[in-house]
Amino acid sequence: MKFKEILQCFLFALIAGVGASQEIQVEIPCNLRETSHGSVCVCNSTYCDYLGQPELTDNSKIVVISSSKDGLRFKQTVGDLSSGKPIVVEDQPFTDENFKADAIVVDENRAWLQLSNISQRLFINSPVSTVRISVKREKRFQNVSVFGGAFTGTVSHLLKKLPTELQDHIYKSYFHPDGIAYNTIRMSIGGCDFDLEPWAYNELPRNDKKLSNFTALDPRDLQKIEQMKRLKTVAKMDELKIMAAAWSAPTWMKSNERWTGFGTLRSEYYQTWANYHLKFLELMQAKNMPIWAISTGNEPLNGVIGFFFVHFMSMGWTPWQQAIWLNDNLGPTIRNSAHSQVLIFGNDDQRYTYPSWFRKMRSSRGNSLSYLDGLAVHWYWDELIGPQTIEQAHTEMPDKMLLNTESCIGDKPWQTHGPELGSWQRGESYMRAYTQDFRYNFNGWLDWNLVLDEQGGPNYINNFVDAPIIVNASSRNEFYKQPIYYAIGHFSKFLPEESVRIETILENQTNLFTQLSVVGFQRPDGSVALIIYNGQNLPVEVALNDSQRGAINLRLPPRSWHTVLYK
Ligand SMILES: *[C@@H]1O[C@H](CO)[C@@H](O)[C@H](O)[C@H]1NC(C)=O
Ligand SMILES: *[C@@H]1O[C@H](CO)[C@@H](O)[C@H](O)[C@H]1NC(C)=O
Ligand SMILES: *[C@@H]1O[C@H](CO)[C@@H](O)[C@H](O)[C@H]1NC(C)=O
Ligand SMILES: *[C@@H]1O[C@H](CO)[C@@H](O)[C@H](O)[C@H]1NC(C)=O
Ligand SMILES: *[C@@H]1O[C@H](CO)[C@@H](O)[C@H](O)[C@H]1NC(C)=O
Ligand SMILES: *[C@@H]1O[C@H](CO)[C@@H](O)[C@H](O)[C@H]1NC(C)=O
Ligand SMILES: *[C@@H]1O[C@H](CO)[C@@H](O)[C@H](O)[C@H]1NC(C)=O
Repeated sequence: MKFKEILQCFLFALIAGVGASQEIQVEIPCNLRETSHGSVCVCNSTYCDYLGQPELTDNSKIVVISSSKDGLRFKQTVGDLSSGKPIVVEDQPFTDENFKADAIVVDENRAWLQLSNISQRLFINSPVSTVRISVKREKRFQNVSVFGGAFTGTVSHLLKKLPTELQDHIYKSYFHPDGIAYNTIRMSIGGCDFDLEPWAYNELPRNDKKLSNFTALDPRDLQKIEQMKRLKTVAKMDELKIMAAAWSAPTWMKSNERWTGFGTLRSEYYQTWANYHLKFLELMQAKNMPIWAISTGNEPLNGVIGFFFVHFMSMGWTPWQQAIWLNDNLGPTIRNSAHSQVLIFGNDDQRYTYPSWFRKMRSSRGNSLSYLDGLAVHWYWDELIGPQTIEQAHTEMPDKMLLNTESCIGDKPWQTHGPELGSWQRGESYMRAYTQDFRYNFNGWLDWNLVLDEQGGPNYINNFVDAPIIVNASSRNEFYKQPIYYAIGHFSKFLPEESVRIETILENQTNLFTQLSVVGFQRPDGSVALIIYNGQNLPVEVALNDSQRGAINLRLPPRSWHTVLYK
């Protein structure tokens, strides 16, 4: 080999080496399919959409990740801030279920909606509104550190039926940084409403205060553990946070001796029920699946007033009684055990119980709230009950974490019970709710079932709802990522642990029809992540004024969500 060739070879190796050491960003686009209510992204054993974490290599780079009703799903637009030009997110061709339209044509300052099925050329035009948003990085609020969904009995059952490759794509889609980077799961202690039958530990023998038959984990939990271990491997996770909650005690501990209906814990079993929780922590730890947090019990009002509507496993508590149990039994039992570091969350019920639930607890046992590390709330009445109740509770207990621990759509009489495949509106409900909660000091959000089947089940009470991922349980060869999945992902994927909310102010909503919302964060690497939602059927101009970067202009398409990243 001549010297020149050797040199070339060396240089080539050097360049190749440099190339290989740089992470090449994964970008596998959504396989979009039109469905009954919009469009979904289809994954099968050999194909699924992923997006690697965008890198902000230099200070002038801005990356906008976009999803839209018309079919964008985590589409990246990369811009240069030093050019001073607006960043324009190009949409897919405009369609709408209410009218077929050729296009939204945007010229300098007007949006033209060209309707295709009207014989004469008719244009409806509207000025493109400009919304000004101030981003004040110096004003910092809570951290966000928890994102996840629930690993219910139904989820475990459905996953088990799928080929391994498809299971792995579900794990990767949810928990890997190329997916939406969840870090937490919620699971029930015993059964919940999404199980194939109601169950608890130590159902037999009855009246057994020693819990003599609660010596090993149930096969259903062992299956979940195997699946969660696989999940951690596939998603390359060192730590998976697990939040656990019980829906009901075994029937013999309850006043009505039934799984559901009006029933509470008998006071002679208060300590037994605390020991039951500790037993679960010990057995999970022994399987190397330590529990990160527990709650005082799922939706305690279901067994007190909610039983007219709720026919699944539940156990009633009044706040006064629960304070006694927490203060005299559960709290000391956990804190004096080897599992004293496990966090305890209170309430785990709807917004309308805030803040009075906690005031009543305090009136019953003055010290009871000191056992709580956090407040857990479910989203089911969020559209009717404003965030003020939560804000009040946060003001009274500013040091306690605030988590949403359950959300899904389809539970209400006026909603489709079950999935609406492709529904953008359902995704928008999530987008509005996440935005609102994070603007009101929430530290994280746990969604309900990770996956459901086409009917929105299965479970023992035929309670059918929607989920971010729907599996085809008949063919077992594909699953569908709903718009809801991307709505959540616009937050979870781009907000690594210890991201901190910063102040964002909508300076002017240009008219009544402008539906725009924003929430902003500073990420641990110092970069800014803004989540912006355009809810109107028209494009919008956004004029950002960042306290360190000055003006940044964006043009965003109709009915779309964006995560805007810059340093
Ligand atoms: C999986 O989806 C991809 C992309 O649509 C397709 O090319 C491939 O044929 C599918 N594989 C199977 C086994 O259906
Ligand atoms: C035009 O659109 C309207 C609204 O969707 C629909 O009812 C009507 O049938 C369409 N007309 C034609 C000619 O396609
Ligand atoms: C212990 O629980 C198992 C599973 O529910 C049950 O089959 C068994 O009969 C119970 N043992 C006693 C002594 O009750
Ligand atoms: C996040 O905030 C909560 C509530 O204030 C606090 O308990 C927790 O320690 C914080 N986490 C981090 C990582 O700063
Ligand atoms: C499930 O797969 C079967 C077979 O490919 C197909 O006929 C059916 O439409 C799929 N279900 C959904 C909801 O797409
Ligand atoms: C909002 O701000 C933009 C940019 O300053 C301005 O062009 C627009 O007229 C404002 N709209 C209203 C209603 O104040
Ligand atoms: C941008 O915000 C700064 C304060 O952070 C303010 O002084 C300045 O006037 C704002 N610029 C515009 C164009 O609103």
